[in-house]
Amino acid sequence: MKSEIQALFSRGYLDKPIPKHLNLVDEINKLKKEKNAVILAHYYQVEEIQDISDYLGDSLYLAKMAEKVSADMIVFAGVHFMAETAKIINPTKKVVLPDLKAGCSLADSCPPDQFAAFKAKHPDAIVVSYINCSAEIKALTDIVCTSSNAVDVINSIPKEQSIIFAPDKNLGRYLISQTGRDLILWEGSCIVHEAFSFDKIVALSRKHPEAKFIAHPESESQVLDFAHYIGSTSGLLQFIESDNAESYIVATEAGILHEMQKRAPHKTFIPAPVNDDTCACSECAFMKLNTLEKLYLCMKYELPEIELDESLMNDARASIQRMLSLG
Ligand code: 13P
Ligand code: SF4
Repeated sequence: MKSEIQALFSRGYLDKPIPKHLNLVDEINKLKKEKNAVILAHYYQVEEIQDISDYLGDSLYLAKMAEKVSADMIVFAGVHFMAETAKIINPTKKVVLPDLKAGCSLADSCPPDQFAAFKAKHPDAIVVSYINCSAEIKALTDIVCTSSNAVDVINSIPKEQSIIFAPDKNLGRYLISQTGRDLILWEGSCIVHEAFSFDKIVALSRKHPEAKFIAHPESESQVLDFAHYIGSTSGLLQFIESDNAESYIVATEAGILHEMQKRAPHKTFIPAPVNDDTCACSECAFMKLNTLEKLYLCMKYELPEIELDESLMNDARASIQRMLSLG
């Protein structure tokens, strides 16, 4: 935060620090109206940001909303690839992200030059990429998917067609098990979902035999094999609302527990334990870079803005639109 503010100072965007008495929630709501702005937030954001957002959802929902909104400014409370996707599918809008350093280990695990070389080795394969990748990877992709629709996207492709799936190897393995297809996998992964400790999850489940274990498909196979239910963030939310258990051990980013508790206040949600002994749950450090203060500053100064090369956006758009047209 400090260095971001210093950068704003040095570039002349900020003349004073945020006054202590300012009610940031009120100020952000005022800025929404003044600037005809909407806040799109992912479930992994800090609670205050989830609560002040206009549209809160998973990656698929947010991409659909980004395409539809008529506001002048989209404030993307999520990570860089999400804000980039919003800009690509709605390029006339100003898209801002509270902290430009909010990246993604999964997107970073797929450098475009290396992926282009990998793709060249499989000239007959079409490319399906998880939305958690850079605009450059989307430009090398035939059809994008999210964790909500990945099975449907793979099933929409003729059986005899070979498919490269990138960048998440864990989601890729899960898709192989669900579709029976022989996908060619890029070996990327998400640090947050790979941090879960299988042994600790088993021990915790023994301690809470009444709790169902539910997991996001970015988790490792061993963890997924142990799960009662596997789904995207919105899938997990639907499951805990409709299922009859009273408690759940949840293997995805801990920010989701806020919305789970809202939707099912009488139920108990326990974050799945991670390998690291210094923390109890898995949090995405990139998602958590966005704070209410940065959200306020970003709306006030309309910075940092997502700016992309026109031709890159044009190349990347088709793969996202193909996914959105599947419904
Ligand atoms: P979904 O929103 O598709 O569940 O993806 C989770 C995620 O890792 C976002 O970064
Ligand atoms: Fe990327 Fe994983 Fe964070 Fe999602 S949770 S933004 S996939 S690092």
